[in-house]
Amino acid sequence: MHPATEQNESDIDERIAGLLGRMTLAEKIGQMSQINGAAGSIPEQLRDAIAAGRVGSIINEVDPATVNELQRIALRESRLGIPLLIGRDVIHGFNTIFPIPLGQAATWNPGLVKDAAAIAAHEATACGINWALAPMLDIGRDPRWGRIAETFGEDPYLISVLGTAMTAGYQGDDLAQPGAIAACAKHYAGYGATEAGRDYNTTNIPENELRNVHLPPFEAAANAGIATFMAGFSDLNGIPCTGNGFLMNQVLRDEWAFDGFVVSDWESVTQLATHGFTADDRESAERAVNAGLDMEMASTSFIDQLESLIADGKVSERTIDTAVSRILHIKFALGLFDDTGAHARQQATESDALALAHQAARESIVLLKNDNGVLPLSAENIRSVAVIGPLADAPQEQLGTWVFDGDPTLSQTPLQAIQQLADRGVEVHFAQGVATTRSHTEDGFAAAVAAAAKADVAVLFIGEEAILSGEAHCRADITLPGNQAALVNAVAATSTPVVLVVMAGRPLVLENVLNKATAIFYAWHPGTMAGPAIADLLFGNESPSGKLPVTLPKAVGQVPIYYAQKNTGRPGIPDSPINIDSISEFGQFESAGFTSFHLDTGCTPRFGFGYGLSYTRFSYSDIQVSTHTVALGDTFEISADLTNEGDREADEIVQLYIRDLVGSVTRPVRELKGFRRVRLSPGERRRISFQLHTDDLAFYGADMQRRTETGAFRAWIGGNSAAEQGIDFTVTA
Ligand code: GLC
Repeated sequence: MHPATEQNESDIDERIAGLLGRMTLAEKIGQMSQINGAAGSIPEQLRDAIAAGRVGSIINEVDPATVNELQRIALRESRLGIPLLIGRDVIHGFNTIFPIPLGQAATWNPGLVKDAAAIAAHEATACGINWALAPMLDIGRDPRWGRIAETFGEDPYLISVLGTAMTAGYQGDDLAQPGAIAACAKHYAGYGATEAGRDYNTTNIPENELRNVHLPPFEAAANAGIATFMAGFSDLNGIPCTGNGFLMNQVLRDEWAFDGFVVSDWESVTQLATHGFTADDRESAERAVNAGLDMEMASTSFIDQLESLIADGKVSERTIDTAVSRILHIKFALGLFDDTGAHARQQATESDALALAHQAARESIVLLKNDNGVLPLSAENIRSVAVIGPLADAPQEQLGTWVFDGDPTLSQTPLQAIQQLADRGVEVHFAQGVATTRSHTEDGFAAAVAAAAKADVAVLFIGEEAILSGEAHCRADITLPGNQAALVNAVAATSTPVVLVVMAGRPLVLENVLNKATAIFYAWHPGTMAGPAIADLLFGNESPSGKLPVTLPKAVGQVPIYYAQKNTGRPGIPDSPINIDSISEFGQFESAGFTSFHLDTGCTPRFGFGYGLSYTRFSYSDIQVSTHTVALGDTFEISADLTNEGDREADEIVQLYIRDLVGSVTRPVRELKGFRRVRLSPGERRRISFQLHTDDLAFYGADMQRRTETGAFRAWIGGNSAAEQGIDFTVTA
């Protein structure tokens, strides 16, 4: 049940029934139609359609005066005065931009993700927006896919926790509260498995994998009361999501009792014919609405075809009434009928928004390498810094993808932030090096080398511009674009230590620069406050705490590669030697032998899920389980000591992994089942405990029933998915 307060549920149901009884069929179908706005104007045709009650929602209108006029027409000029849903892609901020969702996932901080969504809702409602088309809950396991930038990474549990948090940030405790906006779980479902990492491509996902990996974040959102779902573009096992009754009727409605509504993706109803799933628009409308789709985005099959489909008995009016009731339910729950649509809550002050964006960016950045403790830099022993690279001073690029309403004038760039340190006597030498991340000229190299040569440290801001990730922006080669690697080599040829700050919308393959840098930060696209966040970490105002929410491969040929893999019958040997040049039949590779690995890259990634360094050193010890024999249905506890062995206070994200050693279907070698951000002082030791219920170990077995199977389990607690502190326990009947 979405969070409309219980006591008004029956009131809402009565009001829906009353309204439905007065609506013509044309007005009902109108509610099922979302029309693209006209960017600050209202064409006569749109004005007439709204006044005739033939529009249920507008997307992409953000001019407050225009939105108010659209609502006024709907409320005052249409026969029944049904207000409009005003939808917008509020993906990772509105005017103030937070890290891309993949970066927010690297914070492993649900409270922060929730607060960021609440700030975004503050800013969006000021324009009259009442529906955010987020969170995106797809599984991100293919870095070639441009939309991995919008995911919360590769793990269903982490995605579930963060997606639920973002939903709570948008929707608050009650949709009717000022400033709450409806959220949207997308893209239902399995979009992340798009073949070859090419957007909109086919997805083939066995039901068992769909239910154990791809669906859990959507079920968590449904259980958390998300108001809407969005059907995906993809062909899922031959049945496109937009016409997939298994997804929308059986799972979403019958199994999960979801009571919100489902909107299509952009023209995905008409695309059913392009898929070859239907013969034409008429059949597309029929198949989509009978599969459980309630609202059509951007295309007009519903408006054009449903009346005649009903007349021909292909679609029942009951189906229409059900869809319209779901849509009206959300409009009532949002309180749209009871206010003039000016749904804005008090504006979060800009400084609140910027302060949170600063914290989010700082916590999202992952320290991958820090040889010889070159970081943090200290203004005491660093007299000059060279700031180099195409992303050092790029206010728009640092925002990342999906920032329709982002305000780059708010951006504080790394160059600006580091220059502010110059006030403390630090000389800053800036050189762009290359014009963009995709440049192929070396014109700027000399200035970059010169800047590095006269500095104590060279900080290079490289990676991908925002345009290289996001929807329909996939890459088959996921190394650094352009000739950035040559720039790194040129700068590294000086004797000046090199620190890389990589900004990107996906995991990149860094093999050709890895050994050129003494230290490497992975910053994703950090958003408005990228500069202050990076400066904080560079100069040690705060210790890095981000952890990878997605695996970084050694080569694109390893993809898909993720930590929660199956063991196989011949598991690869993590440290087997890798030298394809000197392979002999059974010699060199005896240690690797006939196991699952690549001759040229082995079987392990460059950096694994959950990995991230700190400026201190954390150790784990004394893992315990409350009982080594856990009865089905019981709760139990797994705990370990965490110690800050270093000399500075810092956060650590403690992670709990579980393995079900034997199952009716094979189970992953590890699965994240808990995590917690903990701050320890130097020398401090603290016991960290995770409470679990045996239900937390459940999975869909060969019979497609979800249950926890008895038998042997192993648990680990540590700072990444290769955690070594392990302990065995058994679940008994
Ligand atoms: C796009 C995206 C979807 C977005 C919608 C509206 O094609 O797939 O995520 O919400 O259309 O912009």
